[in-house]
Amino acid sequence: MRDFDEHNITQSVIERFGNTPDPRLKTILNSLVTHLHDFIRDVDLTFDEWQAAIKFLTRTGQQCTDTRQEFILLSDTLGVSMLVDAINHRQRNGATQTTVLGPFFVDNAPHLPLGADISGKAEGEPLYANGVIRNVDGKPLANATVEVWQCNTDGFYDVQISPELNLRAEFHTDDQGRFHFWSILPSSYPIPYDGPVGDLLQATRRHPYRPAHLHFMISAPGHETLVTHVFVKGDQYLDSDAVFGVKNSLIEEFRQHAPGSAPDGRQMTQPWRSFSYDFCLKAAT
Ligand code: BEZ
Ligand code: FE
Repeated sequence: MRDFDEHNITQSVIERFGNTPDPRLKTILNSLVTHLHDFIRDVDLTFDEWQAAIKFLTRTGQQCTDTRQEFILLSDTLGVSMLVDAINHRQRNGATQTTVLGPFFVDNAPHLPLGADISGKAEGEPLYANGVIRNVDGKPLANATVEVWQCNTDGFYDVQISPELNLRAEFHTDDQGRFHFWSILPSSYPIPYDGPVGDLLQATRRHPYRPAHLHFMISAPGHETLVTHVFVKGDQYLDSDAVFGVKNSLIEEFRQHAPGSAPDGRQMTQPWRSFSYDFCLKAAT
């Protein structure tokens, strides 16, 4: 076939992929070509716009390093990451809701005993966190792995500012499924905006901020690993998270306390905060 025009080219491209042996790949490519061509026709894409798009995607790739994934950041800010998350976690059956992993997880966080303080040298308002990990039937999960990571008071994660790991840890629940640890109150913070994704946010008058949160990744044998956050109630960015990650069920009150005795007996000489959050894991299928 020759003489492709703006109407018949789509079907011809789809047919060219007709011998794809992997049926799932074939389905995905058919849909991709259909939607991509429809999109280009819909906006009447000009040559200049096509070139700008190629340049933008090239810069996005060039911004990627071992520690910076600008394509995932683009996916996050376009709502694609949360859309994929939603499609893949349709049936929660009472299990805790999920949200984005984000770029700041590392798999070699220090293993700490329950009750440890993960704030290291970071200064801020002390925060006492505790909760229980259960299955959907309400049974506590002993020895579940609780990985936690968060930013400091200035809104930076350890990996953004220093080679030393801080404000992150791996804990294991006790025989009643409980965990508790000390940290500091996290801040709202901007996602990295010094690259093409930041340029896109600026061009569209969007701010780069995420509401304050702690990240949790929780796993236990025979259960789906849970990737989620606990958000600080009252944060000004809860309704405009740059990556669309907020869910009401993940927002918790971070209670304020006057100096005095904390639940684990620690004597606090300054005001401090606390939150409790119980997580529920779904059985693996
Ligand atoms: C985060 O919460 O760490 C995060 C998530 C998505 C993009 C950037 C940061
Ligand atoms: Fe985060």
